Amino acid sequence: MSFDDDELLLLTPGPVSVHPRVLKALSNPIRYHRNKEFLEALDWVSKFISKIEGTQNLTIPLTGSGTAAMDAALSSISKPHSRILSLVNGVFSKRMYDIAKYYSDDVVLYEKVWGKAITKEDVQLALEKGPFDIVTIVQNETSTGVLNPMKEIMSEITKSGAVSIVDGITAVGGDFVEVDKWGVDVMITASQKCIGAPPGMSFITISDKVMKALEQDSRGRSYYLDVRNYIKGNNINIPFTTSTPILLAVGEALKMIEEEGINNRIARHRLMAQAVRTGLRGMGLSIFAEEGYESNTVTAVNLQNSNSVVAQARQYGVLFAEGQGILTDKILRFGHMNLVGKREVLIGLATLELALKDLNANFIEDKGVLSALKLFESMRSQ
Ligand SMILES: Cc1ncc(COP(=O)(O)O)c(C=O)c1O
Repeated sequence: MSFDDDELLLLTPGPVSVHPRVLKALSNPIRYHRNKEFLEALDWVSKFISKIEGTQNLTIPLTGSGTAAMDAALSSISKPHSRILSLVNGVFSKRMYDIAKYYSDDVVLYEKVWGKAITKEDVQLALEKGPFDIVTIVQNETSTGVLNPMKEIMSEITKSGAVSIVDGITAVGGDFVEVDKWGVDVMITASQKCIGAPPGMSFITISDKVMKALEQDSRGRSYYLDVRNYIKGNNINIPFTTSTPILLAVGEALKMIEEEGINNRIARHRLMAQAVRTGLRGMGLSIFAEEGYESNTVTAVNLQNSNSVVAQARQYGVLFAEGQGILTDKILRFGHMNLVGKREVLIGLATLELALKDLNANFIEDKGVLSALKLFESMRSQ
């Protein structure tokens, strides 16, 4: 028996499988993007994203994937000679560095070995090369499964006075994001990860301080993505045609987050992450991320020939993600975002065992599912 693309269980770190309610929202008749009801839906989406990011700041919905929001932030805020510090520990923080270099000729790279977290001490060291106008960082490095300790990092960045641009693309909706408490100036996210909607939209949340500074300044360096055009007074203003179907799907996905409760949702993501790690360790495999900094939305596991394992698991109807860049064929990434619960974790671990057995890989047999089940059982009795 083989599975076609329609039947695959996506255990990738985005795009993720979405709930049928969200798919149904996609099939609404096409809305006129300046229609009052549509604008109300857009406004609700924008405010709800600010809420789950823990901020009063305005969130601008953009039509374009997460990279569009990264591009919007850097092209709108930086100047050709802005001094930018890019804190890098994986593919996506490296992408932020590449975008920064696209817009400024004074970008300093501080790179940590991939798999390690960026710590407060790293930031202190990196800031010695300052002063910087802007600092970029990714909260949850999807390519390595590392969660950077944002609270401590942000306390250093805010002390330095630099504008912080934080990519929370695989954190918002799945893990703690505290824009106001941490003092983040610009937070970025996208529709297709923990928010649980199809790909196609991204969101950029900007502090009043940065917005005011931008208003003093005539324009950014992208026409389509200049955030100034998306704000009128204290409100969002969408100058171009929004992807109306995706926005309605995002609205439905966010309603599901509201119904679950963001804190329950984060607790579920954290439990599933723990179960995946426990299962993988039970199989005698090791986690790629530095201990203590493991992501709660994606787990990267050390696995030689991981491309073949991903291909083999696909035969059983489950799609994991390969490693990227220098990690190609070295790690497998098990995504546990959005709807992933006990059922998906157990299926994922069982499928991985089947695939590893097929490939005669070296691992401890029959222990993955069992270890995760034991963890679930121990949590039940607490
Ligand atoms: C942390 C992070 N940043 C940026 C991106 C790029 O987003 P997109 O592919 O939506 O442009 C991704 C995508 O996986 C990501 O995980």
